[in-house]
Amino acid sequence: MQKITLDMKDISIEFPGVKALKNVNFTTQTGVSHALIGANGAGKSTLMKVLSGAYNHYTGDIYFDNEKANIRSPKESMQYGVQIVYQEVDTALIHYLTVAENIMLNDMVESGNKNSLINWGSIYKKSQEILNSMNVNISSKKLVSELTLAEKQMVLIARAISKDCKFLILDEPTAPLSNSETEELFRIVKDLKQKNVGVIFISHRLPELFEICDEITVMRDGEFVVKKNICDTSQSEIVEYMLGRKMDEQFPPKENVIGEKLFEVKNLSDGQMVSDVSFHVNAGEIVGISGLVGAGKTELCKAIFGATPDVVGERVLRNKVLKVKDPYDAVRQGIALVPEERRKEGILVSESVAINITVANLKKFCNGNVFLNFARENKTAKETISSLEIKTPSHESKVKNLSGGNQQKVAIGKWLVTDSEVYIFDEPTKGVDVGAKKDIFELIYGLAKAGKAVIYASCELSEILGITDRVYLMYDGKIVKELETSKTNEEEILYYSTGGK
Ligand SMILES: Nc1ncnc2c1ncn2[C@@H]1O[C@H](COP(=O)(O)OP(=O)(O)OP(=O)(O)O)[C@@H](O)[C@H]1O
Ligand SMILES: [Mg+2]
Repeated sequence: MQKITLDMKDISIEFPGVKALKNVNFTTQTGVSHALIGANGAGKSTLMKVLSGAYNHYTGDIYFDNEKANIRSPKESMQYGVQIVYQEVDTALIHYLTVAENIMLNDMVESGNKNSLINWGSIYKKSQEILNSMNVNISSKKLVSELTLAEKQMVLIARAISKDCKFLILDEPTAPLSNSETEELFRIVKDLKQKNVGVIFISHRLPELFEICDEITVMRDGEFVVKKNICDTSQSEIVEYMLGRKMDEQFPPKENVIGEKLFEVKNLSDGQMVSDVSFHVNAGEIVGISGLVGAGKTELCKAIFGATPDVVGERVLRNKVLKVKDPYDAVRQGIALVPEERRKEGILVSESVAINITVANLKKFCNGNVFLNFARENKTAKETISSLEIKTPSHESKVKNLSGGNQQKVAIGKWLVTDSEVYIFDEPTKGVDVGAKKDIFELIYGLAKAGKAVIYASCELSEILGITDRVYLMYDGKIVKELETSKTNEEEILYYSTGGK
């Protein structure tokens, strides 16, 4: 099969206050899977957005097989066979339309123009065929609003590969996927490679890049650092290129002192997924909630926080039963939740970084409960920006202009400035680079050392083993096992997470 070479040369782009790309060179080919890696804010998504025609104010040139391509709009990019699945899954789909409509959107617009009649039968059939060929079990007639994040991701991939696709860009596709869904995606990537599609794969999970990619390009601070064949490099070398320094131990030493029981959940059910869950967290303790994607961890976090209606059961803080009808009640009584779908639930994207960081705790920033003390608000915002190393031109920048990982950090920062007693983290490191992960672990340790009760929900076993003191395993909405972290291992956790008794 004839290979097509893609060359991006000397690409630069600026936004107010940020030089996002500085003379970046990027080259790859069809039939190859190419990893693109770099810390949060390094410029990966921006470079790929340039390629997919999202911007017209960049400088530099793009070539396919040494022929210059003038890509200044998505349409022009698609004409060269470039398809992209954006990092912000939620904004890329139309929620009140069906799966089929979302997959076939462009075709429908085009065919609609010609004869204004849409052949629904064929729309459903075609989109279902694509999903089936991906081994994805979603009905094309379902509304997108009813899908899980992982399913939405699959719909976006289906949409991309339904077109004439020579280069497919996947911007952090595995962040919302379970292990088996990730395996399925890898199978799809291999299959596309066979069909001579070039796959550009952005991810913060190094092991998976080493599993499925042939080549890797590293970026740092808007610049190209190095391009390597995967077989000629190692994970630690890549981390060093990314950060510009050697990475030391990921997890801080355990120094938290575990005290008395601080928080307890008794017989909590949400009428849907969560079923009769009871557990407790001591002061100064980090308790893991683990299990596979879909085991009910997120639902449990939301139920505790009052973010789902009709929850029965008790939340007990310092031996006092709390009345939690909604998240407002929860926050008021000392419970904080950093939700998994942070873009949708955790941040106000059109507001500034400073407002986002202080919004959960406005009282703290008010004079006599009336006037907002901007000076105090700004000071706290700046402190959080520096302690979490949030990459932003200023505390006044809009959150929607930050990179994906930096948006996550804002959502985390927002809850860290509240004076809560119980902190619930739902997959806090998703989409966060290895350096920033370490900062987040340190902040979570800081909370434990300050005597808070920390609930850490994650399906990343290495994190559960690295950061928690005890862990509860969920399976099918129930807690099936409690383990002491220092006395367990990955195998045992996996055994119970997959329904072992
Ligand atoms: N539309 C925009 N307006 C202003 N600044 C922007 C815009 N898009 C990107 N930036 C800035 O450009 C830089 C690079 O962002 P980009 O999203 O490309 O990072 P990334 O490497 O994809 O990071 P992540 O791993 O967090 O997704 C960041 O500093 C970001 O704030
Ligand atoms: Mg990005």
